[in-house]
Amino acid sequence: MSLVVFDDSLKLGIKAIDEQHSRFIGYINDTWDALDQGKPQDEFLYILNRLLDYAMEHFSAEEALMQEYDYPDYAAHKGLHNETAADLFEFDLRLLAGDPEESRAFLQFLTDWLNNHIRFTDRELAAFLKHKGVS
Ligand SMILES: [Fe+2]
Ligand SMILES: [Fe+2]
Repeated sequence: MSLVVFDDSLKLGIKAIDEQHSRFIGYINDTWDALDQGKPQDEFLYILNRLLDYAMEHFSAEEALMQEYDYPDYAAHKGLHNETAADLFEFDLRLLAGDPEESRAFLQFLTDWLNNHIRFTDRELAAFLKHKGVS
């Protein structure tokens, strides 16, 4: 079962960002599936790490775009990424790998955050970028 579906309501109309969000959500769903399938801990840790690495990669990519186009809300948007990164790293991954309930809570937290962040914060960035001719 997918925890979150990348549907039209999450598409912002900026190709690079939409592709990254789709991949990000794909990794969330892979992690959720790994949990449902009761994958061995080392395999689960690998999948979880891939998700976290990609989250950081995506934040950096968005921040680079913001800088490239002199986005006026850069500091606030980056601040939200940083806060979330700190929250994510507060979860002890080894502990998560051995505790499915904690893992579910972690994935639910990340999913809710991402949904909200895409719909509001990233949407504002996308509107700005479109205005600058990015598609
Ligand atoms: Fe984003
Ligand atoms: Fe963002």
